[in-house]
Amino acid sequence: MKGTNSVETFHSNPNKDFVRHDFDKVLVGDWSQRLGHRLKYLGLPSALMYDIVDWQEYLDRFSTIEREENQQHLMFLKANVSNFEERLHSLYGEFDDILLTGRDRYGHSPQWPYDLVNLDYYGGFIYSNQKRPKAIKKLIQNQATYEQSFLLLITQHLRDGDAGHDQKLTFLQELNHLLKGGVIDTRLHPKIDLITSWYAAPNLPDAARQALYINFFLRDAGESEHFDVACRPPIIYEGTGGTWMIHFATDFAFKRGLACRVASNQTLVEVINMGLLEVRNGAFTPARFVQPRLNGAV
Ligand SMILES: C[S@@+](CC[C@H](N)C(=O)[O-])C[C@H]1O[C@@H](n2cnc3c(N)ncnc32)[C@H](O)[C@@H]1O
Repeated sequence: MKGTNSVETFHSNPNKDFVRHDFDKVLVGDWSQRLGHRLKYLGLPSALMYDIVDWQEYLDRFSTIEREENQQHLMFLKANVSNFEERLHSLYGEFDDILLTGRDRYGHSPQWPYDLVNLDYYGGFIYSNQKRPKAIKKLIQNQATYEQSFLLLITQHLRDGDAGHDQKLTFLQELNHLLKGGVIDTRLHPKIDLITSWYAAPNLPDAARQALYINFFLRDAGESEHFDVACRPPIIYEGTGGTWMIHFATDFAFKRGLACRVASNQTLVEVINMGLLEVRNGAFTPARFVQPRLNGAV
């Protein structure tokens, strides 16, 4: 029976299935092997729990977040028929609020820490109130409190001209200074200017800026909480209902015994040069643009 506020259940599509099964599942399996145990999951699996069902062999317990009441009920049913209800810990509300306040709408808390976090949400990253970046920073801080390494998956809407354009431009200026500060060979500085102005161009699809911006944000937030951060090229794909999505998969390996911030093994230049991947018709396809690279040859 549908209530007046009932929201449609999320249904998958071939591109999403490819990203979840052919890309993420491999990472989840590798991460489980690296940690030497099944993974404790925190995420937004939706009522049909496609990710939990697909990755089950690598998962231990899972905390799920869902903001729609009717979807929450359907999730319980799905867990029951799938025979994993006893492993389900369910939280109800907006995930940003739960991460920021540490409580869901009923006062229940996440069971920190987690090995795998799958934030697969509707909407973008930057809103005027900065709630989402703050929530993700809080998640990273919580994991650091327990000195717990984790794999973070993020999927969000890719919207050209998304809010926060000015913020991305400010970020590009910061990145420009940071790179020039770190690159001793001053002959490379014009190339750095070329790269940052390529990303700042107003006609550039926002996917390119988002790719760099979010990977840089995750690296920065992680390093300051003592994680060695390894980013991957994000994947863009057309999701359910024709909306374009962008997907990030990032390793956060906790480094014990450090008082100052970590310098990740992966260099900033590697992050800049990684570009992005594109999925169409359920398979990888050449990406629609190739970003400029920073290397010795100017
Ligand atoms: C895209 S689906 C998840 C798909 C799933 N992870 C998979 O692999 O197929 C997102 C789910 O999270 C819920 N959701 C979206 N944004 C949310 C938010 N900001 N807070 C809490 N739940 C949210 C939606 O109602 C939906 O059930």
